[in-house]
Amino acid sequence: MKKMKSVPLNEELYNYILERFVPEDSLLNELISETEALNIPLIQISPEQGKFLTLICKLCNAKNALEIGTLTGFSGIHIARGLKENGKLVTVEIEQKHGDTAKKYFEKAGLKDKTEVVISPALDYMKILAEENRSFDFIFIDANKTNYPDYLEMAIKLSHPGTAITMDNMIKNGRVIEDAGDDEDLRFIQLTNDILSKDDRIETLLVPIGDGITLSVVK
Ligand SMILES: C[S@@+](CC[C@H](N)C(=O)[O-])C[C@H]1O[C@@H](n2cnc3c(N)ncnc32)[C@H](O)[C@@H]1O
Repeated sequence: MKKMKSVPLNEELYNYILERFVPEDSLLNELISETEALNIPLIQISPEQGKFLTLICKLCNAKNALEIGTLTGFSGIHIARGLKENGKLVTVEIEQKHGDTAKKYFEKAGLKDKTEVVISPALDYMKILAEENRSFDFIFIDANKTNYPDYLEMAIKLSHPGTAITMDNMIKNGRVIEDAGDDEDLRFIQLTNDILSKDDRIETLLVPIGDGITLSVVK
């Protein structure tokens, strides 16, 4: 077994990073408070993951982005902020209440023209996008885990060489190395990591920020 070279983070180191590189954002704080007040689960990505997504979009000069699992728009705001002028994020959400709240906050963030919220089961909508021969420069997958292998396959269909595909919860709170037993979500995360590591249409790293985010580049 190889020796770990990374420095494990503690609260103080984590705060050091956030204080310098991920400034407080009053609009995002308001979004989180409203999400909580609406009794919508607080299952958005972490702030540093958000910054990471913004930077990836900028790095790949993304104009067209696709998100699977909008919730109330926290990650969507980060993605849309990283897109080029005239860029567009299409974000797919199954729950009307989540999507409506996201729309409200995209507007508040000045991102109305850069975002489109689609209320639909994500896999159905990805199939429609594929029929329309759409392709995206950046794709973020963060919805129900049991569809992750299918979302990944569709994401590759909806990509071009150089597209960045990212997936959240790939460490599953540290449980990814455990026996999944009856835990379906964990089993599908493990399966997806196996596919990601072997699929030769993409090159992937599991980056240990937040709950683990994979970054794949389509060859
Ligand atoms: C973890 S949350 C997304 C968090 C969001 N990406 C963020 O960081 O702000 C997952 C979202 O996926 C939605 N979802 C679950 N199953 C879905 C499906 N089959 N199609 C579309 N959305 C789905 C849930 O309603 C929930 O809002």
